[in-house]
Amino acid sequence: MEEKACGVIPNRTSSIDRAKQELAKKGCVVFQHIGLEDSATRDFALRLFKDRIIAVPEGARVLEGGEAERERLGLSNLAGQPVHTDGFAYGDLYPDFILLGCVRSSQQGGESVLVDGYQLLENMDSSSENSELAERLRSVAIDMTEEGMQESHSPLVIETASGRLMLRRTLEQKPCGNSSDAKGDQEMIDLWIGAIDEAAEEAPRFKLEPGEVLVVDNYRMFHGRDPYTDADRMLWRVWVWTRDALGVPELELASDSRYAGLVGQ
Ligand SMILES: [Fe+2]
Repeated sequence: MEEKACGVIPNRTSSIDRAKQELAKKGCVVFQHIGLEDSATRDFALRLFKDRIIAVPEGARVLEGGEAERERLGLSNLAGQPVHTDGFAYGDLYPDFILLGCVRSSQQGGESVLVDGYQLLENMDSSSENSELAERLRSVAIDMTEEGMQESHSPLVIETASGRLMLRRTLEQKPCGNSSDAKGDQEMIDLWIGAIDEAAEEAPRFKLEPGEVLVVDNYRMFHGRDPYTDADRMLWRVWVWTRDALGVPELELASDSRYAGLVGQ
């Protein structure tokens, strides 16, 4: 069976209804246009998700990889940011949707890249070579705890009670300390990350322009960006937990990981 490409270019729309449809169908959409003011991205999240929202913290500025996140994740605008899942510092209760509202783009570089994890998993399921791997991804718990943050010892692919699949590519994914087959687990992780990175390399790029907001299903898609030159490039990131999420952390929340190291109440 021929494998389908996993790289996705989101459609652009200025209709809220269409944006909802696109998000459900493709896991991503770009909405045109929202304002450039500080509250615009979060205001749009409220408009889009309405009563589905359980939590939507204030937006966080994304500058050269993000003010608070930059040093923690070792990011630089001159390097690309590999595709990843956002909010993994909250463990299994990471946000199910993210919004990136563009205020200023870089004339050179800064293109976004999206990989559809559901398509990637489907390709694995239907390949005789990788179907066993796909099964292990769903059943073997690994350690995805970021140091000092909320604990996570779960399979790379888990499912919510309502049947929504949650896929993750985080900063640190390693075998659990008590694994009976650490070598096999590491191999599984390497294959997973390798497949995601390969899909990202092949994926088409697109560029967010000021006033555009990218909405991404963070359970389904991995996102990243190419290197860029303009140090003033700026986006607002807003994390959203909807009623379809696995749950909401019992912590103070932000659209970055600043509170994720706290002990739960
Ligand atoms: Fe991110």
